[in-house]
Amino acid sequence: MTQAHTVAQDLHARFLGESAPSSDYVLELGKEGWELNTPQELGLGTLKLSFAQGPTAWRLRQAGRRQPLGRAVGLKSGATQHVVDATAGLGRDAMVLANLGCRVTLIERNPVMALLLRDALLRTAPPELRERVQVIEADARSYLLSLAVPPKAVYLDPMYPERSKSALVKKEMRILRELVGKDPDASELLGAALACGARRVAVKRPRGAPLIDGASPTHSIQAPNTRYDVYLRPASHE
Ligand SMILES: C[S@@+](CC[C@H](N)C(=O)[O-])C[C@H]1O[C@@H](n2cnc3c(N)ncnc32)[C@H](O)[C@@H]1O
Repeated sequence: MTQAHTVAQDLHARFLGESAPSSDYVLELGKEGWELNTPQELGLGTLKLSFAQGPTAWRLRQAGRRQPLGRAVGLKSGATQHVVDATAGLGRDAMVLANLGCRVTLIERNPVMALLLRDALLRTAPPELRERVQVIEADARSYLLSLAVPPKAVYLDPMYPERSKSALVKKEMRILRELVGKDPDASELLGAALACGARRVAVKRPRGAPLIDGASPTHSIQAPNTRYDVYLRPASHE
């Protein structure tokens, strides 16, 4: 059985061979790994993840511990800490965190995105980052509550309607939104993150967006287009 057959079986998807229609989402195993072709009427083309080129590679080159994302998860210089990125998506924030020295567990509930992430990690991530990163396909609401040893920090970036205006980011985020929908259960996810025993939960929101329903953050960190709401838990949770 080929790799494509096995993946089709795992995803409970139809195996199409060469006869892929253009009116549906189609996963294809090309020369450069797995890619997702979107329905023609969306006009969004193909989603290929790469950590070696494009926006993620650019962000990895810019990354510094004092940048807002590093501060949001509480990075201290020289220390390695475990962060659960409970909304993995395109894996960009997670790779920046890994590049800053964190050990990162990425949780993604959409099986197609989990497959693309694992594939991009194997094919395109620098080896020193690959060994610090793990992708788990799960719903983070139950995953977080099942952890025997909580991470230092949980990072959340649930889907939000208005995102960055850059053309490239926009296309990939639009495909992601078409595929996974709106994350209407973000406040339940925040509740699970706050209850899992982690000392810190950081939530990324577009600048000016309302808080996620639920607890109030301890403080917020402002970046040009983004705000990080930081929730600190008492030390007894460690
Ligand atoms: C806005 S995207 C995250 C983008 C990501 N921060 C990045 O840098 O690429 C949100 C992602 O979180 C996933 N997600 C939302 N709620 C989830 C949950 N409860 N468990 C696992 N994944 C979840 C969605 O499927 C989607 O892929």
